[in-house]
Amino acid sequence: MEIGTVIASLEGPSPSKFSFVVTDDGRSIPVRLGQFVEVQTEEGNLIAFVTNLVKTNRYFMRVESVREYERGGKSLSSIFPADRWEYLVAEAQCLGVRSENRLERTTFPPSPGQRVCEAEPNTLVDFIGLSKDGVSLGDLRHHKIPVNLDLTRLLRKHLAVLAMSGAGKSNFASVLIEELLARTPEIGRPAIVIVDVHGEYKGLASLYPDKVEVVNGNDLKIGVPNMNAYQFTEFLPEISGTQTRELQRILEELRAEMRAGNGPFGMDELIARVEKDGGMHKQLQQALVGWLYELRAFGLFDCVDKPSWEGMVRPGKAIIIDFSDMTNLRKKQMLLAYAARKLFNARKRGRVPPFVLCLEEAHQFVPSGESKTAAIARPIIETIAREGRKFYASLMLISQRPVRLSTTVLSQANTNIILRVSNPYDIEHIRQSSEAITGDVADMISSLPVGEALVVGEAVNHPIFVKIKRRRSKEAGRESGLQEAAREFESKMNRSIEDARAFL
Ligand SMILES: Nc1ncnc2c1ncn2[C@@H]1O[C@H](COP(=O)(O)OP(=O)(O)O)[C@@H](O)[C@H]1O
Ligand SMILES: [Mg+2]
Repeated sequence: MEIGTVIASLEGPSPSKFSFVVTDDGRSIPVRLGQFVEVQTEEGNLIAFVTNLVKTNRYFMRVESVREYERGGKSLSSIFPADRWEYLVAEAQCLGVRSENRLERTTFPPSPGQRVCEAEPNTLVDFIGLSKDGVSLGDLRHHKIPVNLDLTRLLRKHLAVLAMSGAGKSNFASVLIEELLARTPEIGRPAIVIVDVHGEYKGLASLYPDKVEVVNGNDLKIGVPNMNAYQFTEFLPEISGTQTRELQRILEELRAEMRAGNGPFGMDELIARVEKDGGMHKQLQQALVGWLYELRAFGLFDCVDKPSWEGMVRPGKAIIIDFSDMTNLRKKQMLLAYAARKLFNARKRGRVPPFVLCLEEAHQFVPSGESKTAAIARPIIETIAREGRKFYASLMLISQRPVRLSTTVLSQANTNIILRVSNPYDIEHIRQSSEAITGDVADMISSLPVGEALVVGEAVNHPIFVKIKRRRSKEAGRESGLQEAAREFESKMNRSIEDARAFL
């Protein structure tokens, strides 16, 4: 559909941008910011992106005359045909030109007077690099085109989902997970591991009861025989080198005995063995025992892993680690560090399928600038960020505080899904993390409505805005408001007073 005509302006048309006057065909909103358009040029079919819209009207250009007529109690439009002189001018950025089915950079400007059309769906699908059997996320904004992204391009490296709270991050993540769960073996199914900090993903288990398993974080246990001394130092960053070596020696002794038929050992056995050991300096021994007691107090350790991680991570299946009842961040970090390392190692040896690890509140687990003690899971997540792609171990990092997220991890996220962000520091941080986000695009981020996302990076040839569809699984019950919570508390209190009276 034709929507305008290229005009000659001070700066253009040039090979990088042009303006066009929008045809007045009676439609109230004939063109929108962020829409894709096409123009025929000598080079071929030029595709451009509307970056600004400006209205002009000659009659209203001179301040004096507008005011003068108003003083006389009249409006300009009642005397002159001023309405007919209102024009809408769109500024467009040239993205590329298609000739003989190849997309190339524009090196030649369109001519003034040339017709501008809404971009054809087929052209756009090609241009953006959408796929037919890909992961369906929603619709391209301003165009009725379903956005299906190629699974490999989307998850081959890593995905960051960034936005302020309430902008639609968890909804997006659920949509993506539902899409992955709906895949058939013929088109390839990765396994999914979800670290669910707020218990928002349990609805997936009702939607796909035979594909999704929920594990309560409090039921997770780490098998002490599976830990090496290095992993202990991750949990206890203050432990010294000598202490680590002694610990390693004792772990090896215990493991040798286990293989010889003594059965698996837990934290109590380990501590008892360290206390009994005769080959250690007394002070060192006491310190080491102290550290181990500190770890034991978390109640995380057992003789064997629970659950057995490798057995649970299966193609086309999801496991949800429900941390919603757990308040201790260090405990959550230890469990994540352990599980992520286990999975990554199993993946390297081909014992588990390609997987996607979804991490809500990623800034809590991979913070930037925190000490080692406050960021126990950071090393392994950074390792997966750097090396995961070789093994198809992908991360989906979800965060409302991009500024507080490790830059190592953020820079390895090759596709960013950005929903509404209003904090200017966060916008700036996001802009710096990806060169595809130009100033124009960055400006649009703060005005995105809930549920609309900028998709930028390897999954698409050009940044696009997508209206994300709604998740099919049930959302976790909304938190009740303050008013409701206060009322509930009071009625409960009254009830117990009445009960007490009745009892007396
Ligand atoms: N794509 C969408 N379309 C319509 N409404 C949405 C969409 N995404 C989110 N919402 C609405 O916004 C609310 C918050 O979404 P949520 O995904 O929980 O945000 P976040 O995880 O970023 O805090 C949802 O309860 C839903 O009502
Ligand atoms: Mg959320």
